[in-house]
Amino acid sequence: MEIARAPRGQRRKDLNSTKSQGTGVGDAAGPVENLRPSAVSAATAEQIERAAQLLHAGALIAFPTETVYGLGADARNADAVRRIFAAKGRPADHPVIVHLASAALMPRWARSIGAGAEALAQAFWPGPLTLILPRARTVLDVVTGGQDSVGLRVPGHPVAQALLARLLDLGGDGIAAPSANRFGRISATNARHVADEFGDAVAMVLDGGSSRHGIESTIVDLTSGEPALLRPGAITVEALGRVLGSALRLPSSQSPRASGTLASHYAPLTAARLIAPHELIHALSALTKPVARIAVLARSVAKPMEFSGSWIDAPRESAAYAQGLYANLRTLDTRGADEIWIEAPPDGPDWVAVNDRLRRATHRQ
Ligand code: TXA
Ligand code: MG
Repeated sequence: MEIARAPRGQRRKDLNSTKSQGTGVGDAAGPVENLRPSAVSAATAEQIERAAQLLHAGALIAFPTETVYGLGADARNADAVRRIFAAKGRPADHPVIVHLASAALMPRWARSIGAGAEALAQAFWPGPLTLILPRARTVLDVVTGGQDSVGLRVPGHPVAQALLARLLDLGGDGIAAPSANRFGRISATNARHVADEFGDAVAMVLDGGSSRHGIESTIVDLTSGEPALLRPGAITVEALGRVLGSALRLPSSQSPRASGTLASHYAPLTAARLIAPHELIHALSALTKPVARIAVLARSVAKPMEFSGSWIDAPRESAAYAQGLYANLRTLDTRGADEIWIEAPPDGPDWVAVNDRLRRATHRQ
């Protein structure tokens, strides 16, 4: 079992100050080693307090954000951050986003904050936007992947906000957190999916319901003169451009590395194909019986009478589609199908982030 560890003295002192709640991660007055792993805890004030104490003691905590769930560690504790990589199976040189309680903490993490960063933070934080800025000297290499930049986000989910505020009271000014999924897999948008991903590798999963946006934050690189979009998300390039007063550059080979920009990412285990609506209708009618080996994520195409495989009708509107996307893919992934067929959504500004994730989920090596 992968266990969160902090220096002994500190661990015992911190945990002794935590009251036992009788649920969640076991006897908080005992050593970290005795914690019941991956316990899903309702995000009550007591459990948030306990999660903050655990983070401060060096443990990994999964917590809700409005985009997807995060797998968090104290961003000032190198051993704790390293544990994130071990739990995810993620390459060690990939940077992780630092989540902050407020934009006022930015100067502790970034050595220069230009007018563009100020304007975007003002307009969209707390919210689903990550800013890549020149790192402050004190930021750990394990957080930045050895790059000269740091990714910062102030999340809007009330549980994430409360957790960050409590950690700040304890002296911790940031939570390093990638999405709470194994490397390359679908992000988790509820507490149960986090527990399914990590088994006993996480000390505690705070349950804050289903994530509102359902896909990861928009990422903007502000390390060069021209802001660049590294990952599309709920905040569109059009909205960013309006605040910045100019259009964003698209990523180049010079842009900082981002694992969410790998061609194959966010992928179900079952082979998945993206199929235009009219082609999907044709492919379904051409299926020979039995047809149970195909699972379908439809949007406008109606399920044929004779189809007996798994079928999900996704919402027609982009925000609702995004909100349920990963849960729908997870559901279809468990149905023992040979292939998942995904009806391609329309093009257009509202669908850019969803189409980006679908392209990566269906990319073949
Ligand atoms: O919505 C989100 O952003 C979620 C929640 C938990 O905040 N987090 C998330 O983290 O999606 P992750 O690690 O799965 O994706 C963050 C992306 C990665 O592709 C990472 O490489 C990139 O952000 N990133 C982080 N720091 C960076 C940096 N300094 N330079 C370039 N890319 C960075
Ligand atoms: Mg991720």
